[in-house]
Amino acid sequence: MQHEGINMAVSDHTNGGLASRAGGLPPEEIIFGRSPAMTSIRQKVQKVLATDVPILIQGENGTGKGLLAQYIHFHSAMSSGAFVKVNCAAIPGALLESELFGYQKGSFTDAHTSKPGYVEMAHRGTLFLDEIADLDLSLQAKVLQLLQDGHFSRIGDKQERQAETRIICATNRDLQTEIEAGRFRRDLFYRINVISINLPGLRERREDIALLANYFLEHLNKRFERDMPTFSEENIESLSSREWRGNIRELENVVARYAILGSLDTLEPEAPRRSSAAPFRVALDGTIPLKRIAKQAIREMEGNLILNALRENKWNRRKAALALNISYRALIYKIREAGLSPKNSRKAPQAKVPRDKAEGLE
Ligand SMILES: Nc1ncnc2c1ncn2[C@@H]1O[C@H](COP(=O)(O)OP(=O)(O)OP(=O)(O)O)[C@@H](O)[C@H]1O
Ligand SMILES: [Mg+2]
Repeated sequence: MQHEGINMAVSDHTNGGLASRAGGLPPEEIIFGRSPAMTSIRQKVQKVLATDVPILIQGENGTGKGLLAQYIHFHSAMSSGAFVKVNCAAIPGALLESELFGYQKGSFTDAHTSKPGYVEMAHRGTLFLDEIADLDLSLQAKVLQLLQDGHFSRIGDKQERQAETRIICATNRDLQTEIEAGRFRRDLFYRINVISINLPGLRERREDIALLANYFLEHLNKRFERDMPTFSEENIESLSSREWRGNIRELENVVARYAILGSLDTLEPEAPRRSSAAPFRVALDGTIPLKRIAKQAIREMEGNLILNALRENKWNRRKAALALNISYRALIYKIREAGLSPKNSRKAPQAKVPRDKAEGLE
């Protein structure tokens, strides 16, 4: 069984292998951009590609830690093996141990067969331990041993096994604080931190915003079969002046809204920080939930249309329903769902849709 916290990609030699997998990533010029901060990261990364030393990637949410881990794998000496991503925050401790190290038949009630763990699957490849700060202390000891000499055992197995794998760890927490609080082993920190890469927030690399925004727009235009023109200087100026607490993921979401809604409204200087930082919930593996964004965008457009019809008909709901060519009942339902009323009709309609309801729509 594959748990949602684990993702695996095995290079496929029959199909162009490395090239086809690495081809799924944005081009190098986009990944690293032109800013001084990213240029020096690019140089560091180039130096580690030929080695198999552990790498620690730190950075705020949405700065591209997961993407960089993939880039390193697919361009490294380990690229013929698998890239195995394990989200340490998404899997409860006991399950994580058996998923990581595997188990022998009979070692616990449900162990009807023996099973290799993800460490074994990442043999000669890359094991990406995402959200490493969430690894509990007992597992930290096992990962430490793996890092020290490559040794590990499946649960319930006396045999010691060896894996040659590059370990990349990522976190958005400050590991020094975690160490001081007794939640993270100092010796493990030194082991995972042979090479450390600190990804800058988007606000520290504003020179790259135009490049990234236009790249996302081109990509999303294709994906949604849209033809939105590249951003004007004004748009870029507006984008460049934002705070971008959600970093590249937030930029990607803003551009997606623009590509879908076809309106520049979403590019206006941001409103309260809380709502703009993470306008959409992001999946555990860090992917951008485009389906959900599309649904939300449609709901938003629908809300605006309804609002216009209501205003034009002076809030006479029967007339508005006629104008919209929907039943009176359907209109009442939609008005309630969008939280529209003459008093609050100046607010964005989607703000009233409860989040759980919005998510259930997928
Ligand atoms: N340099 C980049 N070029 C193009 N797209 C990028 C870049 N960095 C990140 N992205 C995109 O931004 C989104 C967020 O990236 P990613 O998931 O790697 O961030 P993260 O730091 O792992 O975030 P989190 O801490 O939330 O897990 C992804 O959709 C990714 O494809
Ligand atoms: Mg991530």
